[in-house]
Amino acid sequence: MIIAVDGPAGSGKSTVSKEVAKRLGITFLDSGALYRTCAYIKLTHKMSDEELIRTVRNAKMAFSKDGSLNLTINDKTENVSGKIRTPQVAEAVSSVAAMPEIREAVTNQLRQMSETDSVIMDGRDIGTCVFPNADYKFYLSASSLERAKRRMKDYEAQGIEMSINELVREIDERDRKDSEREHAPLKKADDAIEIDTTHLTIEEVISIIAAKTTN
Ligand code: C5P
Repeated sequence: MIIAVDGPAGSGKSTVSKEVAKRLGITFLDSGALYRTCAYIKLTHKMSDEELIRTVRNAKMAFSKDGSLNLTINDKTENVSGKIRTPQVAEAVSSVAAMPEIREAVTNQLRQMSETDSVIMDGRDIGTCVFPNADYKFYLSASSLERAKRRMKDYEAQGIEMSINELVREIDERDRKDSEREHAPLKKADDAIEIDTTHLTIEEVISIIAAKTTN
């Protein structure tokens, strides 16, 4: 079984998908983490686009049982989970994710990761491009302000300070780039169920998805 959960930045996709995975006993895959890792590689190694594409094609990304993401380049493995959720990566990721060669390499890895298990995968193009035949598709939305407030809590937990206005700007700018790009833009699949989470608790969203996927 494949469940696709798409939506804009900070709409609660990962939090909700992780918990639904636990309840249904299936695997959670965070596709944004792979794109963030590509941006992290570019920023850390100051690579040109050509070098980045070559590196990502030869890299291996794998989630471990505890959900952390391991990146292997040239037989060297690094746990990148704590390094990809920074404002710097958030600012760089949309341009990296707009490159068709990067999308192809990441999409291949995501499909490989889903070959053996039932999965719930969150992202921007899961229901439209990665798994157009997914068994269930959801599209989570929420107001920019609500999404910025949620992102602020994530950053605070990491000791990163950003004002709510800066966060609204970061989120709106990322959504604009993600929806306007040519390849696999952020878009609701025609057959996805849309859930506006602005006034819903995480538990309420989880219950809606769990109910629809266990019937
Ligand atoms: O979900 P998250 O906010 O971590 O995603 C980070 C970025 O990765 C998005 O802003 C987008 O540019 C890119 N992304 C994508 N396609 C996906 C998932 C994420 O382009 N399926």
